[in-house]
Amino acid sequence: MIKSILLIITGGIAAYKSLELIRKLKERNIDVTCVLTKSGSEFVTPLSVASLSGNHVFSELFNLTDENKMGHIELSRSTDLVLVAPATTNIISKMAYGSCDDLASTILMATNKPVMVVPAMNVRMWHNAATQRNIQTLIDDGIKFIGPNKGDMACGEYGLGRMSEPQEIINSIIEYDNSLIHQPLKNFSAFVTAGPTREKIDPVRFISNESSGKQGYAIAQSLFNMGAKTTLITGPTNIPLPEGPSIIKVNTAEEMLDACEQQLPADIAICSAAVSDYRVNNKKNSKIKKTGENISLDLSENPDILNRISKRNANRPSLVIGFAAETGEVEKNAKLKLYSKGCDWILANDVSDGKVFNQDINKITFITDSITEKWNEMSKDDVASKLSTNIINHFSA
Ligand code: CTP
Repeated sequence: MIKSILLIITGGIAAYKSLELIRKLKERNIDVTCVLTKSGSEFVTPLSVASLSGNHVFSELFNLTDENKMGHIELSRSTDLVLVAPATTNIISKMAYGSCDDLASTILMATNKPVMVVPAMNVRMWHNAATQRNIQTLIDDGIKFIGPNKGDMACGEYGLGRMSEPQEIINSIIEYDNSLIHQPLKNFSAFVTAGPTREKIDPVRFISNESSGKQGYAIAQSLFNMGAKTTLITGPTNIPLPEGPSIIKVNTAEEMLDACEQQLPADIAICSAAVSDYRVNNKKNSKIKKTGENISLDLSENPDILNRISKRNANRPSLVIGFAAETGEVEKNAKLKLYSKGCDWILANDVSDGKVFNQDINKITFITDSITEKWNEMSKDDVASKLSTNIINHFSA
């Protein structure tokens, strides 16, 4: 159980949110000790940080008084979690390269505790190839990231890079805590469909769609982290597989249905795949050659996996969750899908103008028989966490 946090505040305009974060953490009886970098102290004062945290604020590596109170090595080990919020491009780069030229970076090198990073930076700095490389390095090293969010920036630009809100950070910490310790879904089994499916036209051509699989992969990872015995059934994608869940790779809708049915009985089914609605009847065994004539594809409808799983008499999972990809009248169409397919929950999103496919963020309307809830725009990882929290609450109610 996380009872104490070492909060490293680096120099970004979003540092003001860290003050609210400290307050909220204290409300949950989490002890907060802060390290303020030199540039962090340009945005918030040591006095306000000390007053809110109720603890001494550490800033300098070679401060004899501080080192006497608590050495930097001791500081790096003194709490249950090290949280960097806001994390600038600079600290992320230093972490990725293992530099230690101040107290914050030295602690991050010396700590033996889990580290969570909450980036906050300009949209172009976020998308810069060097930043993305550094982030991937840190993810591979086991560092957890929270956010960033998309929106208006202090510099006047718009896009990804806004620091997550204090409550979102707390939710992620709780989820992480749950995943480490309580494993609230440890007695549950789940399967998740993700990615596109492919329907062959001939040996080199197929019908498919833009789905990246990111949302389904994030959900499978989150359920696994919560302790669920999780299987990810995925169409062809180009993204790294989640670590932990069992993986079944498929191509066609029929293969995906087959793989889902083999997972039964299961407690939770989540259909996030963008399944091709049609398959080709007149597919060819050899490459179709140009003839100068028009040709037609004869298509027949694929099985609807969500529908089939939801309407099973035997072995229906007790919670069946679908997605609704809509380009208009999102809520109305999603509700129709909820009822016609017979699933329990639908996560609806607006996929018009490339808003969701292949992106790292998602904006969900969460719909059940009795609730319609508009979620803020957030990362697909955060959508997965929020969904997992709802699942945990559902089963514990
Ligand atoms: N789905 C499925 N099998 C299919 C088609 C869709 O399991 N053959 C699931 C998707 O995984 C998603 C939900 O059904 O959870 C809704 O998918 P969506 O693409 O939004 O809608 P469709 O059912 O395909 O309907 P339409 O294309 O007419 O909107």
